[in-house]
Amino acid sequence: MTFQLSEEQIAVRDAAREFAQNELLPGVIERDEHQIFPHEQIKKLGELGFLGMMVDPKYGGSGMDTISYVLAMEEISKIDASASVCMSVNNSLFCWGVEKYGTEEQKQKWLVPVAKGEKLGAFALSEPEAGSDATSQKTVAEDKGDHYLLNGTKNWITNGGNASHYIVIAQTHPELTHKGINVLLVEKGMPGFVVGKKENKLGIRASDTHSLMFQDVKVPKENRIGADGFGFKFAMETLNGGRIGIAAQALGIASGAYELSLQYSKERKAFGKEISQHQAIQFKLADMEVSIEAARLLCLKAAWLKDQGLDYAKASAIAKLYASQTAMDTTIEAVQIHGGYGYVKEFHVERLMRDAKITQIYEGTSEIQRIVIAREILK
Ligand code: CAA
Repeated sequence: MTFQLSEEQIAVRDAAREFAQNELLPGVIERDEHQIFPHEQIKKLGELGFLGMMVDPKYGGSGMDTISYVLAMEEISKIDASASVCMSVNNSLFCWGVEKYGTEEQKQKWLVPVAKGEKLGAFALSEPEAGSDATSQKTVAEDKGDHYLLNGTKNWITNGGNASHYIVIAQTHPELTHKGINVLLVEKGMPGFVVGKKENKLGIRASDTHSLMFQDVKVPKENRIGADGFGFKFAMETLNGGRIGIAAQALGIASGAYELSLQYSKERKAFGKEISQHQAIQFKLADMEVSIEAARLLCLKAAWLKDQGLDYAKASAIAKLYASQTAMDTTIEAVQIHGGYGYVKEFHVERLMRDAKITQIYEGTSEIQRIVIAREILK
């Protein structure tokens, strides 16, 4: 066992850190306040190879490992979690599944432009009445021979408005429950596909979250990934990897808040000395450091298992459960350390606190992670 990063991994982490400081930090408060999607910044992330990090270079990706992905996600999320969710969904929820299960033709058409960052991908599983209970899909993909007729509504879809390539999960054979679900590749502009309203959110406000409506959308059979009925398994496997990305996002939100708090505590004086000299603050900083270090190790372990081709479903659920709790706890304490300044936008920690909450909800709530973990340990 080694805890040492390779030179390449360090270079990726440093490049992400530099990008976040130089490109994402300017304007991050305004983008959050006015819900402005970071178009230019996401384009540059694509040019740097951060939108298809683990995809084989022959399909337009960067051919990096999952550890590098975790390192980059942490750095980007320290500054701008709205940008990092876009990055995470593109990498883990779109590119991964198309590369793993798509045909050569599907990879050329759907993966290459998304891995290069020329187009954005989205993953549409959640519905108004099917969030945690993901097998209860109401969106229907009726088998019409050479095509599917897609009808239904998806909710809370990240990259919903700016994506052009969508992975859509839908029910074809309701009598088979989850074994009757399919996964289809759907393109923006297909007749009957409408992007619905943009959500006005508590956090990650600059990210692009929409509902999607499908009314008699004709999706060619060749757009189905895998065999008939493979859709639910596909979604679950995709989310196993997605949760590593969100765990790393939560880690980044926590470590961003911690770094700001550490710096502030050395500058702010109270009762005649820097507040970092007060034990009340020292204990908070120590607790933050411990949970962040543990969260980082859990993220890296899940990433390592995936890179080794080993089972990572439990490890990714543990990493997400723990890192998202760490993000919440750390950001709340970061606001407390900053006092009145923590409650206003200029000091960033109130945004990080709002951003942290979603990491306990999307890609499986903390309750769902506990279900995944419990089922694995009781197998
Ligand atoms: N990995 C692989 N396969 C899995 C799996 C996993 N983690 N979890 C379940 N499966 C498989 C099971 O093995 C089973 O397959 P078989 O029938 O072949 O054995 C099948 O899926 C059905 O599983 P269950 O019987 O366990 O189904 P369930 O209904 O009892 O529970 C669940 C399933 C784990 C609760 C699942 O519904 C779930 O994960 N829900 C959460 C959904 C979620 O994470 N949504 C996030 C939306 S995406 C998002 O947020 C993206 C974004 O925009 C950022």
